[in-house]
Amino acid sequence: MIREISEKERLDAIDNALCIIRRNLPEYTYSCQDTSTTDGIYKAIGNTEWTTGFWTGELWLGYLCSGDETLAHASLIAVESFRERIRKHIAVDHHDMGFLYTPSCVAAWQIKGDAHAREAALLAADNLVSRFQEKGSFIQAWGEMGAEDNYRYIIDCLLNLPLLYWAEKETGKQIYRDIAIRHTETCVANSFRSDYSSYHTFFMDKRTGAPLRGETCQGYRADSSWARGQAWGVYGLALAYRHTGRKEYLDLFEHVSEYFMSRLPEDMIPYWDLIFTEGDEPRDSSSASIVACGFLDAADSYEKMQEYEKARKYRSDAKKLMKAVYDSCMTGKDESGINGLVKHGTYSKKSPYNTCTEYGVDECVSWGDYYWMEALVRLGGSWKSWW
Ligand code: GLY
Repeated sequence: MIREISEKERLDAIDNALCIIRRNLPEYTYSCQDTSTTDGIYKAIGNTEWTTGFWTGELWLGYLCSGDETLAHASLIAVESFRERIRKHIAVDHHDMGFLYTPSCVAAWQIKGDAHAREAALLAADNLVSRFQEKGSFIQAWGEMGAEDNYRYIIDCLLNLPLLYWAEKETGKQIYRDIAIRHTETCVANSFRSDYSSYHTFFMDKRTGAPLRGETCQGYRADSSWARGQAWGVYGLALAYRHTGRKEYLDLFEHVSEYFMSRLPEDMIPYWDLIFTEGDEPRDSSSASIVACGFLDAADSYEKMQEYEKARKYRSDAKKLMKAVYDSCMTGKDESGINGLVKHGTYSKKSPYNTCTEYGVDECVSWGDYYWMEALVRLGGSWKSWW
């Protein structure tokens, strides 16, 4: 039975994270971290992956809890590289504009009022809008626009949509919000099964726009529930409610959350696919942190609605997930040979039935580090979300 993380443990975890982040700073100020570690260490790469916003986001979170201007300075250096990336259209032919530009550039605009960051985030929002498919009403995840074998969206995209709500607020242009809501409606209608497990990817008919079929890329099988896909569903629905006030999204959030929690092993660290509940399959600790963030976001929404019992329940479950990560996955600040914050994440695990390339199995993953840090800062109570 896992108990809730205590305030002392939360502060200890933040101290731990700051220590590792500061140690990593020289290596990743003018370069980015790879998607995941290789044997415990992030390779330094250029700003080309879908994940590079997470390290910058970690720096902003680190800045917020320490006031250390060297962290803000490094984040602003990264912002320039994000601006160049979108202006020159480098590796942005996909939907992951929110993952890239929200924790890096929206955060920089929010915290420092940096005009280059605002410009870059708005360009990224436009790029995301350009991937909207009228036929089927969805944002196409990957590949050439309109290509038959890529005429699909993926559940992860729910986390890209806050960039559009932000762009609508910044510019007053309704189109950003309309597209976010239309995509959400398509996702809500198709991505969840009757037991509230989820499909990773979903194909639409290119000619009629009708829903075709769910498939997986990174999950075990088309009909299983990839742990991180379910986690993106949990957090994405909490955010969809907060941005739209549509109660049906919050109702669905409850069911999708319940499914996630019902598939956890004793130590509460999910296996990489929720089809597994015991045994030696690798875990994906990042899913636990993502869900904790979703629960904390939803708890705030319930509090505003004066639904205090639900607010208490989701906050408590978030703290238990965080305690599980703290106990089983957090890297110690004196641990050698590893430079990520959270161990036991899984990026892509090959199965006999999926289509991914195996990479980053039982490693630190950059979003796992980021959402762990976000959960720690969120739980402190005074964080203004950039999602
Ligand atoms: N969005 C891709 C992943 O979660 O691995």
